Amino acid sequence: MTQSWRQMPAKSYAAGWKKRAVVASLLFAPSKLLTLTFTAPGGEPCASRRATALLGIVGYLGMSGLASQATEVLPLPRDFDCAGYSLSNTKAIGSGAHGQVVADAAQGIVAKFSYPNTRPVILEECATLQRLEAAGVPHAERCLGTCTVDGQRTVALFSPFFTGGRQVSSNVVSELGDKALLVFINASSQYLVRSLAAGLAVSDLQALVRPDGDVLFIDFTGAGSVDDELGLSRASQSLGEWSTVLPPEIHSRMADSLARELDLLPHGSFPGNAAIAISEMTFRAASEVSLTGLAESARRAAR
Ligand SMILES: Nc1ncnc2c1ncn2[C@@H]1O[C@H](COP(=O)(O)OP(=O)(O)O)[C@@H](O)[C@H]1O
Ligand SMILES: [Mg+2]
Repeated sequence: MTQSWRQMPAKSYAAGWKKRAVVASLLFAPSKLLTLTFTAPGGEPCASRRATALLGIVGYLGMSGLASQATEVLPLPRDFDCAGYSLSNTKAIGSGAHGQVVADAAQGIVAKFSYPNTRPVILEECATLQRLEAAGVPHAERCLGTCTVDGQRTVALFSPFFTGGRQVSSNVVSELGDKALLVFINASSQYLVRSLAAGLAVSDLQALVRPDGDVLFIDFTGAGSVDDELGLSRASQSLGEWSTVLPPEIHSRMADSLARELDLLPHGSFPGNAAIAISEMTFRAASEVSLTGLAESARRAAR
């Protein structure tokens, strides 16, 4: 079932806008209206300063009301249909620079609602995720489709709803036990190598990790090609930021794991920019052997 954006009945909402429109028109045609409205019994216009000021204030209030209505972030519907799915009883789970995110926990689906100025970003994000899915890139969320809800906001549906995950950071990774750390290292290097092999890099990498090390990469709003003129800096930025979330004690293991993933690719198939970026990753605490191994694997895989 699709709900309205507002609790307020549609009629009183429309009436509120009508009132503001009248006030706005008063403000924009003041001289004419003042002459008509404030005419002395003798026929002489007597638009007093007080009346003018009053009208100005009312007009200002009306306009500021208009402005705040236009930029206000509207409440989200709990139940709505989108891209062939019926979501119900959704709850807010987060928000970021591009949207507000809710989840239908029963179906394991997440919905990102655009802001008025991020509609194209949300569509682009879904297209990126569908490219990654087609390329078989693991550990990235999937985009199930997009829609417009109530004619106002672009919505993209993602799965899975990664419950129990925390945003990856150096502290969170440091808290993982040995077994979980291994799962995390392998999963994240699989994602990194295969997404770059698919030609895509995300400048602001974000991932959620569970206590067992399972990881899901989310938020593909900053994705771009590694093959164009910005490809090298995009890939370098993405990998550079990633290495800063890794505690130094796992740098060697991460470099080894990336090298193993690169070795699984057909020789000469990996984008050149990605190969340079990956072999220049800042693993300050990694052993010489691990760093040389990674550079060697990147060179072999590069086209
Ligand atoms: N699949 C998901 N599972 C669990 N939480 C999610 C998922 N996707 C997003 N979130 C939560 O919603 C927040 C905002 O989502 P994000 O995609 O980063 O939006 P933005 O593009 O606005 O930054 C995330 O930081 C995270 O906490
Ligand atoms: Mg985000």
